[in-house]
Amino acid sequence: MKRFLFSFAFILISTFLMGQNAKIEQKITKLLDQMTLEEKVGQMTQYSSFFDVTGPAPSGGDNKNKYDQIKTGQVGSMLNVRGAKQVREMQKLAVENTRLGIPLIFGYDVIHGHKTIAPIPLAESASWDMEAIQRSAEVAAIEAAAEGLNWTFAPMVDISRDARWGRVMEGAGEDPFLGSKIAKARVQGFQGDDLSATNTIAACTKHFAAYGFAESGKDYNTADIGTSTLYNIVLPPFKAAVDAGCRTFMNSFNELNGIPATADTYLQRDLLKGEWGFDGFIVSDWGSMIEMVAHGHAEDGKHAAELSANAGSDMDMESHVYVKHLKNLVESGKVDIAHVDDAVRRILRVKFELGLFDDPYKYCDEAREKELLYNAAHTEAVLDMAKKSIVLLKNEKNILPLAKSGQKIALIGDLADDKNSPLGNWRLASDNNTAVSVLEGMESMSKNTITHETGVQLYSGDAFFHQHININTTEANGIGKAVEAASQADVVVMVLGEHGFQSGEGRSRANIGLPGMQEELLKMVYAANPNMVLVLMNGRPLAIPWAAENVPAIVEGWQLGSQSGNAIASVLYGDYNPSGKLPMTFPRDVNQVPIYYNYKNTGRPGPKNEVFWSHYSDQTNAPLYPFGYGLSYTTFEYSEPKVTTMGRTADVTVTITNTGKVAGTEIAQLYIRDKVASVTRPVKELKGFEKVVLEAGASKTITFKLTEQELGFYNNQGKYIVEAGQFDVMVGTSSADTKKVSFSIK
Ligand code: BGC
Repeated sequence: MKRFLFSFAFILISTFLMGQNAKIEQKITKLLDQMTLEEKVGQMTQYSSFFDVTGPAPSGGDNKNKYDQIKTGQVGSMLNVRGAKQVREMQKLAVENTRLGIPLIFGYDVIHGHKTIAPIPLAESASWDMEAIQRSAEVAAIEAAAEGLNWTFAPMVDISRDARWGRVMEGAGEDPFLGSKIAKARVQGFQGDDLSATNTIAACTKHFAAYGFAESGKDYNTADIGTSTLYNIVLPPFKAAVDAGCRTFMNSFNELNGIPATADTYLQRDLLKGEWGFDGFIVSDWGSMIEMVAHGHAEDGKHAAELSANAGSDMDMESHVYVKHLKNLVESGKVDIAHVDDAVRRILRVKFELGLFDDPYKYCDEAREKELLYNAAHTEAVLDMAKKSIVLLKNEKNILPLAKSGQKIALIGDLADDKNSPLGNWRLASDNNTAVSVLEGMESMSKNTITHETGVQLYSGDAFFHQHININTTEANGIGKAVEAASQADVVVMVLGEHGFQSGEGRSRANIGLPGMQEELLKMVYAANPNMVLVLMNGRPLAIPWAAENVPAIVEGWQLGSQSGNAIASVLYGDYNPSGKLPMTFPRDVNQVPIYYNYKNTGRPGPKNEVFWSHYSDQTNAPLYPFGYGLSYTTFEYSEPKVTTMGRTADVTVTITNTGKVAGTEIAQLYIRDKVASVTRPVKELKGFEKVVLEAGASKTITFKLTEQELGFYNNQGKYIVEAGQFDVMVGTSSADTKKVSFSIK
């Protein structure tokens, strides 16, 4: 009976939604019939904020042009306008002046929080906690929508194997399985169940595709990858986002195998909109259409517009080539009007779904804005997220957790009292210096005597989103004082790493050690007092072999957002038992990059005691810390896994026991290896994980289900296939520490 009622309710809801969709499609058709070609092109044009709309209209120049274009229906979207009042003013220009009153859609980079800042996405990914990640995106959406926004340019789902690439901070790391789950969680968090609600916004999955495979980790660089990597590593998180109902996509700056992504018909039209059935719209990346001239793919702006429109790029972000040329290209037969109509239909569809046609000002309520920005519930959510994102990398002699009283602590490092850097890179709407510093967190949570010494300045001058910061590589005057404080302390806590503006867009690094004078500081302080905890703050994996070898305790504290210091202090003092696991391999040496856990075996795997196998003669193949790695204040033991097969599925059962003295959370991981395949498979592929919470001494048996969805792969024609044969299954605490069992399927 229950099942019957359930199915009945499902049918009712589906029928209602189908009816709603059909109504929207009818309205779009009606509107399209009334639109001039110029107005259609207008919907396909997006500008960045160019003046203070609450002030007088610009009197001349390009801004005057843009202002007039909004009023005459030649603009469909704005980015970088925010604030309930500002958005309302800008929206009025379009709604009250244009012939058809079509509302603008307002986009913004809401990447890890909006005003209340969450950990950077790479850090969040270390939680492997889909509920917390979804909640974090939800909180960001609530605050963004309260500021009048309808649309975020997130999630970035680019898989990357290169820690030099600055934008690894914005993604989910190196693994497509984990990346796909996170893509789904983030899309659902931003969009919720009802896009028209005033606390949800449309998501935008980016950058389609292969941006994370920029050669040598240099941002914007060429990507040149084989079909197997494209289908099995790069594309799965994008597909997961479509399946989760993501309403928009962004294409990408890079070229992929010789074609700039913005002009890639296969990716945009055939695969995304065709095979995957995506019915939202694609926005270009900033200026990526006009950049095709520099790529050597388009002759000029007009040609760039032609290539982009024909390939399926629906909206032009700041290239200005659609507004200038698209009308003419249609009239001269270079671009089919059907392509334009399709693009406009997609854009209008999302505007309808957001409810902008019912009330273009529905997101512009100043009272709601005041109530929701920096809401206490949001602080709680980002604190929870920050704690879950922390990874304990080393804890020899159980230095951690620290006692809460009776300790003389030397807290050393420029980042230890920094209230800005922990906000990370994409924190455009945040207020400066609003993060809780480690110093503040540690002071508020204990009765210890804490002495803070900077040691060495990390940088000089100001730190801004739009410019490189000036890293200090010469000035070391403060080291003496830091050494002095350390020698008088019971324990030293060093907070070292990167500034929040050392990762992110345009911030690739050729060296990925501790920047500036920090390694020197670390060594000198360690010589004075080796009873030391190192807290890392960074937006990418760092190569820190000396610290990993010598410092007894290391905590990965990323850039954790507004609540950074409270989260870190609660781990240092043991109020929170860390459970994060690395979503990206940490190399020992930048020259090992790209280094990742799911590599291919090659014909000459090792290790061997001779010359002719796949290795370096001057460095080990092993990473510093592997994918999936992370410790706890307790220990866990895994039983031998057992496998039961039924046709082409397998159940893998394992018992996990908390063998330590305190309660803890373990993220159990399952990897497979398809032993023989028509396209070779990696030595390990993550295909399952589960967060297990255990009291001291307690055990839990968990079962992973492997189905054809986990056991197959994409062949070089992009077809998903499952092949008969033997599989190894490896279950354990990280990609490098597992227990194995095997099975076969027919
Ligand atoms: C970035 C995008 C971002 C866009 C808008 C570009 O430079 O690559 O990820 O969404 O700017 O700010």
